[in-house]
Amino acid sequence: MNIAIAGTGAMAMFYAYSLKPLSPTLIGRRYRPFLVTESDKQTLLDPPFVSWNDAADTPWDVIILAVKWPAMPLVQQLLAHQPNECLIISLMNGMGQEAALIPPLSPQQLACGLTTNAVTLSWNKHHRLPEATVTARGETTIPLMPHPLIPFWKETLDHIGWSWRFLPLEAVLRARWVKLVQNSVINPLSVLANTPNGALPDLPLWHLMPDLIHEARMIAQTAGIVLPSNLGEKVTQLARATAPNISSMLQDVRRHRPTEINAINGYLVQQARAHGMHLPTHEAVIALVDRIASNPNV
Ligand SMILES: NC(=O)c1ccc[n+]([C@@H]2O[C@H](COP(=O)([O-])OP(=O)(O)OC[C@H]3O[C@@H](n4cnc5c(N)ncnc54)[C@H](OP(=O)(O)O)[C@@H]3O)[C@@H](O)[C@H]2O)c1
Repeated sequence: MNIAIAGTGAMAMFYAYSLKPLSPTLIGRRYRPFLVTESDKQTLLDPPFVSWNDAADTPWDVIILAVKWPAMPLVQQLLAHQPNECLIISLMNGMGQEAALIPPLSPQQLACGLTTNAVTLSWNKHHRLPEATVTARGETTIPLMPHPLIPFWKETLDHIGWSWRFLPLEAVLRARWVKLVQNSVINPLSVLANTPNGALPDLPLWHLMPDLIHEARMIAQTAGIVLPSNLGEKVTQLARATAPNISSMLQDVRRHRPTEINAINGYLVQQARAHGMHLPTHEAVIALVDRIASNPNV
């Protein structure tokens, strides 16, 4: 099976490590060998690497998308050249992958899932290499798409001892919405407060949380998704359970990189506009995060 992982960041390194027996190829702009650290174990990896251009000329069986949203134009170019049999698995945060990638893909080629694995990228000064540290081993869930490779992919993962959850499309979509709403609260508020997740529930800023969830709930309903009634409590628990974590959005701001806010809060605002609605709290939060991202000294 010819497997590619689009991306060379934290999640791409984690998938390369977890799928090592299948010899996946990384696709990206730049590459160097890297370390993956899980518990006390450090592993050096040096998988095959191809540039985006070269990857577009290669027919792949499975491509796992592990990039941040600003890479989407390169993903679109890559997928425009892939055979109809190719299975694409997106484990990116945010929503809108279907609108961005179908076409060129057909709906059954694109399996949009989610992962609760948490991986942080850093620079290992001693080895002078990038290092992906697994801060939480979670689950990876994808929908049972009517694609011929899905049963084979499941069997292959079982064979290497890494079980994913394969659930009906509706169940995965609901789980993605729950994650979207969690991210739409914790990520931008952590940027505004410039704190790890655990500090958020004790800040006055957290008073925005109920409105952010209320607005997101209205938009989920327009998509036929009923979110759990206790989502506010769950988001608070999640912030406390991941207390030391620096959210990916805050990491991006600190590294002067574009954030994924347009695919998270921005997606909710776009959906609202399409239904003639406004989400004032999400709109305000996006404007503030964009302002901080464009000038971190604000
Ligand atoms: N890390 C986690 O714990 C975690 C957990 C769940 C979901 N996710 C999601 O997984 C996805 C990947 O996250 P990550 O943590 O791996 O991010 P990351 O470490 O920041 O890596 C991002 C990757 O995207 C590429 N990229 C970003 N902007 C690009 C652009 N404009 N053009 C080309 N390539 C670009 C980067 O390439 P360069 O290095 O060349 O810039 C890098 O390969 C995101 O959607 C994230 O929300 C992450």
